Amino acid sequence: LPLEGLQAGGSGPLYLKLRQSLEDAIQSGKLNHGDALPPERDLADYANISRVTVRKAVDDLVRDGLLVRRHGSGTFVVKPVSKVQQSLSRLTSFTEDMARRGLNTHARWLERGLYHPSPDEMMALGLPADALVARLGRLRIADDMPLAIERASISAEFLPDPQAVTSSLYTALDKTRSRPVRAVQRISACNIKDPDASMLGVAVGSAGLSIERVSYLASGRVVEFTRSLYRGDAYDFVAELTLSE
Ligand code: GLP
Repeated sequence: LPLEGLQAGGSGPLYLKLRQSLEDAIQSGKLNHGDALPPERDLADYANISRVTVRKAVDDLVRDGLLVRRHGSGTFVVKPVSKVQQSLSRLTSFTEDMARRGLNTHARWLERGLYHPSPDEMMALGLPADALVARLGRLRIADDMPLAIERASISAEFLPDPQAVTSSLYTALDKTRSRPVRAVQRISACNIKDPDASMLGVAVGSAGLSIERVSYLASGRVVEFTRSLYRGDAYDFVAELTLSE
């Protein structure tokens, strides 16, 4: 890293100069996306400046989303992502959406089991307190990129065995003849906090899209109540609008 002479050249606070050198190194490719930053102690020794100064410059770049701190493993250069364009008018599953783009999906399971419903789930799914709900919490990953954290609740009536969902929920619902045919989806903006931010590999406070989907069978029964958190930098939702008659 071109950090020599930080002390000597130019005016202005040292941490800003360090920040600029790191930014230049990222832009010029001296530091590649996904690379780990040398430990702060080494940067301080190398540039002959204090660790407090290094910390301040790194904090700035983390805040701006150029670097990300991963607990226990260090600080990394953030990979810029190409956005996924997602239609807002078709009722598709995550697995199908990604397959259409040639991406492989996998999940890190956060939760998978049968529970009594929470008040929110009772309301959304129209269930009594003593009913059972299948809860599926997943970090959804396309190729190697984590894209969303998704928490789905399905009445046990439609999904008696949550372990049957190995990859796609909609495929599992197909098998119990309860794949939804209609859904209402609500999208709102949010800032991603920890622990979600570190799971998604984005800086704390980055833009996220919080998406709620309630989906229905042809009979009008609610099948699914899902709350998801999508990375704002990875998604572009597109809706086609038509003139009403
Ligand atoms: C999307 C929706 C979820 C739905 C999921 C099913 O991600 N936001 O509401 O549960 O698709 O995807 P899959 O069948 O891949 O589990």
